[in-house]
Amino acid sequence: MNMSAEIADRKTEVLIRAAEISDVNNLTVLKQQVWIATYAVEGIRTEFSTYVLSEFTSDKLLETILDKNKILLIAEIDNHLVGCVEVNLRCDCPVDLVQDQPEIAVLYVLERYTGVGIGLKLLTEALSELKEKDFKAAWLTVYHKNERALKFYTKNNFRIVGITSFEMDGNQYENKVMMVDLK
Ligand SMILES: CC(C)(COP(=O)(O)OP(=O)(O)OC[C@H]1O[C@@H](n2cnc3c(N)ncnc32)[C@H](O)[C@@H]1OP(=O)(O)O)[C@@H](O)C(=O)NCCC(=O)NCCS
Repeated sequence: MNMSAEIADRKTEVLIRAAEISDVNNLTVLKQQVWIATYAVEGIRTEFSTYVLSEFTSDKLLETILDKNKILLIAEIDNHLVGCVEVNLRCDCPVDLVQDQPEIAVLYVLERYTGVGIGLKLLTEALSELKEKDFKAAWLTVYHKNERALKFYTKNNFRIVGITSFEMDGNQYENKVMMVDLK
């Protein structure tokens, strides 16, 4: 069995659960790792390392886990963290259409575990919690060059409803705003 077949086979063993305080260090490392793998496509420059080391810290992760306005779910295989999804229930959307609706703020799967359904499992669980809370829609932002994520969300019923920009170290990066209806 090759590696991706083996991982696909083990996808049935994926456990999705709410993050706990004891997950803080694993989550911090996962977020740093996935962010760099996704965005530092030409290598690491100071802009990136400064952002990663200031944004993805254990303290900020702990705040997120304790925040009643956030949902943080993790995906585990054999007690190893392989992905996470973070939802912000209270934040302003740059597009009026989805004002007062929650943001899928983070959806990260370790590269080795992508393409076998873990992202969809995390997303489905997060959206189902939002439906239970009676939200009518959810939104997110995606870097306009992140084609894999744009394709993934489009395939899973999100549509582009606007653009916004993400600022890092004085530079602006165009992001698409996408939304999904929760029926
Ligand atoms: C975008 C991302 C979250 C998607 O997660 P994922 O786990 O790879 O997604 P899935 O496996 O559920 O779906 C991806 C593809 O695998 C396919 N797939 C799903 N289950 C599968 C299985 N058992 N076997 C083979 N393929 C499968 C899906 O059909 C989908 O196919 P497509 O590429 O033709 O659309 C993930 O690639 C990621 O974390 N990327 C880096 C961070 C990032 O960009 N996050 C989004 C920022 S906004």
